This record gives sequence, C-alpha cells and structure tokens, in this order.
Amino acid sequence: MDENGWRVVAVTSPTLDSGKTVVAINLAISIAQRLQRTALLLDFDLRRPSVAKYLGLSPKVSLNDVLQRGVDVADAMVNPGFERLVVLPTLQAADRPSELLASPRVADLLGELRDRYADRVVVVDLPPALAADDVLALLPHVDCVLFVVGSGISSEKEIEAAQRRLSKVPLVGVVLNKDASVVTNAYY
Ligand SMILES: Nc1ncnc2c1ncn2[C@@H]1O[C@H](COP(=O)(O)OP(=O)(O)OP(=O)(O)O)[C@@H](O)[C@H]1O
Ligand SMILES: [Mg+2]
Repeated sequence: MDENGWRVVAVTSPTLDSGKTVVAINLAISIAQRLQRTALLLDFDLRRPSVAKYLGLSPKVSLNDVLQRGVDVADAMVNPGFERLVVLPTLQAADRPSELLASPRVADLLGELRDRYADRVVVVDLPPALAADDVLALLPHVDCVLFVVGSGISSEKEIEAAQRRLSKVPLVGVVLNKDASVVTNAYY
C-alpha cells in the first residue's frame, strides 16, 4: 500500500462468516503497532455490524449518527485502548445499506477522512461481496481490497464470482482463514 500511495483498504469476502471482521480488527491493530502509523478502522458492514461488539465498545455516538443524523465524524471516533488505533463503530444495521453506501454522504465522509487524517491507513470492514451491492457501492472510494476466504466456507464458484465483482479495484492480498490444516501438524 505504501509503495502505491494507497491509504484505504476494504476487507471483504465472497460469503458470510469468513472472518472479515476478525481480520480487519487484527490488521488495524497490527498497522497501529508500527510506530510511524496510525490506523482507522471503519465499520461499513451496515448489515451485520460487529466491530464494536468484538472490541467490547458501547459508545454513545456511532457511524449511524454520522451517516443518518449528520453528526461530526470526529465525535464518533473511539479509542479502543490500542495506541494509534481509532475506531468508527456502527451500532445498528442501517435501512437500505447499498443506497447509503452509494450516497454522496459516504463519498464526502471518506473524502474527509482522507483529507483530515492524512497520516492514517483506513481499514474498512464490509459485508460479503456476493451478499448485496454494498461492496460495489463502496468500491469507488477505496484504494485496494483485502480478500478473506474462509476455508470450507465459500465454493470455488463463489470465490470466482466475488473476484469478478471486485475486479475494478486492485487486490492487495488474500487471506485464507479458518484453515484447520495449517495447525494439524504443528511440527511441519
Ligand atoms: N481464524 C479463525 N479461527 C477460528 N475462528 C475464527 C477465525 N476467524 C474468525 N473466526 C470466528 O468466525 C466467526 C465469524 O468471524 P467474523 O465475524 O470475523 O466473520 P465475518 O466474515 O466478518 O462475518 P459476517 O459475514 O457476519 O460479517 C466468529 O465467531 C469468529 O470468532
Ligand atoms: Mg463481519
């Protein structure tokens, strides 16, 4: 991402339950652990938001207020207890998430995050690419995609179909998650 000047990475998968949110959280923490880096984790899974739950956050203000009530984005930023990591949590599923993600409000928000926080890498947690049009709606605003594939969860056809949907944006990496074979023989 550094080499290409990319600052916004979207995390998605073909289908549900692949581990996108776990990967997005761990990636954001890892980036923030590097001294020269600040990470912003944005929960744009407006269907099954879970970043706040996984991190044990229950903030008064969230992305729901920013997107639906015009609250300033700075008021929704939460520090979850890791240095240089800031989270923008979503607390409730939104009505018509695809439309919301395609709206000028979201374009403005991501533009603002790029401009106001120029030193930050933004990690965006998203729904599955095949679930609806949410990911397609957001793709124009991200620099690259991290593709999480749950071992035994998505079929080859689903993986290919999802990759076709994501083909307009550079793929920065693939995570094969939940692969039990990796740990079956610890020695090798
Ligand atoms: N590497 C892993 N090993 C074991 N369990 C995992 C791993 N990654 C994720 N999980 C578990 O799998 C479940 C789904 O993970 P997660 O919520 O991150 O997936 P998701 O792709 O974000 O799901 P959703 O489609 O609902 O957004 C959770 O219970 C999580 O704890
Ligand atoms: Mg998730």
